[in-house]
Parts: sequence; C-alpha cells; structure tokens
Amino acid sequence: MARILSLTLNPALDLTVRLARLQPGEVNRSEAMITHAAGKGVNVAQVLADLGHQVTVGGFLGEDNPQAFEMLIARRGFTDAFIRVPGETRSNIKIAEQDGRVTDVNAPGPVVGEQAQQALLEQLARIAPGYDAVVVAGSLPRGITPQWFQGLLQQLKHLGLKVALDTSGEALRAGLNAGPWLIKPNTEELADALDCPTDSVAQQAQAAARLHAQGVEHVVISHGADGVNWFSPGTALHATPPKVSVASTVGAGDSLLAGMLHGLLTFDVPETTLRRATAIAAMAVTQIGFGITDEAQLETLQSGVHVRPLTEQ
Ligand SMILES: Nc1ncnc2c1ncn2[C@@H]1O[C@H](COP(=O)(O)OP(=O)(O)OP(=O)(O)O)[C@@H](O)[C@H]1O
Ligand SMILES: [Mg+2]
Repeated sequence: MARILSLTLNPALDLTVRLARLQPGEVNRSEAMITHAAGKGVNVAQVLADLGHQVTVGGFLGEDNPQAFEMLIARRGFTDAFIRVPGETRSNIKIAEQDGRVTDVNAPGPVVGEQAQQALLEQLARIAPGYDAVVVAGSLPRGITPQWFQGLLQQLKHLGLKVALDTSGEALRAGLNAGPWLIKPNTEELADALDCPTDSVAQQAQAAARLHAQGVEHVVISHGADGVNWFSPGTALHATPPKVSVASTVGAGDSLLAGMLHGLLTFDVPETTLRRATAIAAMAVTQIGFGITDEAQLETLQSGVHVRPLTEQ
C-alpha cells in the first residue's frame, strides 16, 4: 500500500443542523446537531485509509478548536502534520430540512499569515521524501494567494511527489501552471479554469491534450450521475455509475479522487482503476457520509459500473 500525504489548506468543521422546516427570522428548534471534522483533503484521507493506505494529513488548522480534528486523526490512525494557526478553524453550517433541502452557510476561516506559510513549506521539504503522492484539495484560506499556491505545488513536484490537485477557480488556474500529476475537476470547474467550453467529449479531449502538454498526466473530469471521463496519454475512458438512490452527494468527488489514486498507486489496469473509483463515488452518494462501509455493496456497485473507451462516441 502507498504512503500518501493529504493537504487541506482550508479545512472546516461541518455542522449539520436537522430540522423539520427552516423558518427564517423565527426561533427554530433542531432535531439534531452533528459536528464533524471535514475539508476535501481530510475526506480524501479517510477514503484512502479505508482502502488500506498509510495517510498523513496536513495543511493549516486553527489552534483554538482543533479537538474534532485531533479526535478524527487519532481514531483513523493518521499522522498529524497540520500547522496550527492563530484563531479557529471555520465552521460550515448545513441546515438539512425534512424535504431534503439543504442550506449551506460557509464561514471564511482564519487568515493564514506568512509565518505559517513558511512553516508549511519548510515542513514539506523535510517530510516529502517519505511519501509516494500528495493530495492537495479544497479552497484557499484567506492570506494565501494563487501565486503562493502555485509555488507550493511546484515545490511538491520538485520534491519528487506525484501531485493530485482538486480545487477550483483561481486556485485551479494557478495550480495548473505547476503541471500537477493528476487533476479531478468537475466539468464546470474545468471550463471555468480553462476559460473554454468542455461540454463535449471532443472539447474535453482537446483540453486534456493541452493539459498533457503542460505536464498534467491524468485529467479526470467528473460529471455527477453522468459519471467520469478520464484522459491520460494513450488512454481515454468513460465510466457510467450504476443508478443509486441519493442520500447525500457530500464526499462524492473526494471519493472518486481517492479511488483513482488507489488504482494508480497500486498499478491496477486503467479499466479496474476507473471502475472501482466510480463505484466508491457511487457508494458515497448512497450514504449521508462517505467511505467504504460495506465491501459486498462495493462489489455490487462495481459490477454495475459501465466502462468504455471514449473513442466510441
Ligand atoms: N447521483 C449519483 N449517482 C451515482 N454516482 C454519482 C452521483 N453523483 C455523483 N456521482 C459520482 O461521484 C463523482 C463525483 O461527483 P461530482 O461530479 O458531482 O463531483 P464534484 O462536483 O467534484 O463534487 P464534490 O466536490 O462536491 O464532492 C461522479 O463522477 C460520479 O462518479
Ligand atoms: Mg469537487
């Protein structure tokens, strides 16, 4: 199994509030309130751990409320490489109503100062040689510029790590300049970052060719229930997930990314890699949370994934 470093620069405490119906401007009584440590890199780390990998989590964590993260890190047996920064890690509030409507209120999080930024770079230079790959996932916290982020990815690449990037907007645009090993945007995120349409397979293939030339080896484009297109030099595959009943799509993209890393780092054949990753993402959708909770269910989902070469279209 692989040793993987998973970085979340802007983690969040997800606070899910369940209630029958939200009455704005009134006193609302919740049925339950659940807090858990989250953030895209932390989610990816959990699925990778389910798959048997040795995972270190890092990035920036507010020093005033680290408990939920520290508990998760201990429970999952992760190595803790988070740089502590002054202030509180942000909370993302999800108000979940009985009819399935979810209202999100996302907080900005602490400002990450120069000292913490420097500390992360120094730490990574020290620990990077011990890993096979690094995941960098999620948004940028306040205080971090896209230019600095590009430099971080360049450093990780120069340290010899395979860099898997999952972010959006300015961060993805800047990140692409560093030529990461793998990216996993959804179709909108890719179109936005490249500033060109990526609706058709032909447009995606063209975009992937440009990205390959820039040093991006694996372009994994997700499109919700429609599935995944994966372009790497010499391979272009599509996977359609089986039809599943949707409990929550939280963690679907993170599960897909973890599944792709698993297949690539254990040198599975491409078809198997994509099939399993798509099944793991579908499994996330069937749950309120995500992760590999039932091996037999995963097997069934895997056999329901349809994989075909993209050239057939
Ligand atoms: N309704 C669904 N049924 C089956 N699989 C799904 C469904 N929604 C998503 N998936 C799987 O999850 C993958 C990732 O989903 P999506 O494209 O929505 O990612 P995303 O936009 O990055 O999401 P996020 O980052 O919010 O997790 C899809 O490629 C697909 O394989
Ligand atoms: Mg995503």
